[in-house]
Amino acid sequence: MNILITGGAGFIGSHVVRRFVTNYPDYHIYNLDALTYAGNLENLRDIEDYPNYTFLKGDILDAPFLNQIFEKYKFDGVIHLAAESHVDRSITDPLSFVRTNIIGTVNLLNISRDFWKEKKDNKRFYHISTDEVYGSLGADGMFTEETPYDPNSPYSASKASSDHFVRAYGETYGLPYVITNCSNNYGPNHFPEKLIPLFVNNIIENKPLPVYGDGKYTRDWLFVKDHAAAIDLVFHKGKNRETYNIGGFNEWQNIELVKLLCRLMDEKLNRPAGTSEKLITYVRDRPGHDLRYAIDASKINRELGWKPSVTFEQGLELTIDWYLENQEWLDHVTSGDYQEYYEKMYK
Ligand code: NAD
Ligand code: DAU
Repeated sequence: MNILITGGAGFIGSHVVRRFVTNYPDYHIYNLDALTYAGNLENLRDIEDYPNYTFLKGDILDAPFLNQIFEKYKFDGVIHLAAESHVDRSITDPLSFVRTNIIGTVNLLNISRDFWKEKKDNKRFYHISTDEVYGSLGADGMFTEETPYDPNSPYSASKASSDHFVRAYGETYGLPYVITNCSNNYGPNHFPEKLIPLFVNNIIENKPLPVYGDGKYTRDWLFVKDHAAAIDLVFHKGKNRETYNIGGFNEWQNIELVKLLCRLMDEKLNRPAGTSEKLITYVRDRPGHDLRYAIDASKINRELGWKPSVTFEQGLELTIDWYLENQEWLDHVTSGDYQEYYEKMYK
């Protein structure tokens, strides 16, 4: 099989690429990535010389380029992760989310539809989406696959739109697809604009930890390698035209998570207990901030047998260790444009 993975130089994509390249030597994995600020080939140094791996630098907005690579490599499957992924950036620049997340996805759908027109058997368009399309929960309840879409941020609106397009191509053109909607991921290679890696980096550098609003917002956290394992399973065993929710049954209020992180970091850095907590600073809230996400992942568990393999404490410790051992990676990604972004966002 020739498989196209888009966004494979990003956080989740790099874990998916590694898993497929190492677990399936008979497949050839093509990683298509535009290398935006979030894409980083350092994430894949360990597998870049594998004979069944090829990196293709390109933009999913570039339809002629997509056409060329489909023609050349005759992909059997697409696992689509390329996206603008940060909610705060979508608030300052919604149009780049419309371009990549909606138009880019429709480009890929068009090409897949055209190339797979004659023979759809064993073809699969796998769209990676988010739980944010379901909007915000109150104190109770969980998102199931039947929860109506109700996105609140430009990011989640663009992802919801792309999900609708994927389903529409299934209905209209018979495109074989599968969609998963996952909760918040964390783990190695996470770009330090998102809560956990940003706070790990700031604790190392003794910088303030900017908690939005009252810190009572709740997210459902999943270790990134468990997400990659779920993607592997759904790609191979998921039913055509189905949606599966993926999540860790692991809800944390932001402030409680930050306190746990501070405690673990103090231990790892041999600082007196309570040192990092003093860095917590409450800052202006994110506009349209969703109160709570919680994924009901019972369908994927029941039908495909997937469940997370690590507890949150284990995953968080693995993550912190990775950042402490990969200071060079952090230094590289936090140089240059990152400083400008940080100043604009937090000062
Ligand atoms: P990321 O921002 O770390 O990586 C995105 C990757 O896409 C980068 O490598 C970037 O260079 C590439 N890219 C961006 N625009 C592109 C374009 N126009 N053409 C080609 N490549 C482009 O994102 P992530 O956190 O790894 O998320 C990956 C996917 O998973 C996204 O679709 C996101 O919506 C979804 N998702 C993320 C989470 C999460 O917690 N991070 C949870 C659920 C779903
Ligand atoms: O739920 C899945 C989604 O999770 C993915 O689709 C997105 O791509 C991913 O970015 C993530 O979105 P969130 O907005 O939930 O993640 P983020 O890490 O940006 O924020 C997590 C929570 O922490 C949220 O309530 C906002 C808060 N926060 C975040 C930052 C960056 C802060 O309090 N301070 C911060 O500086």
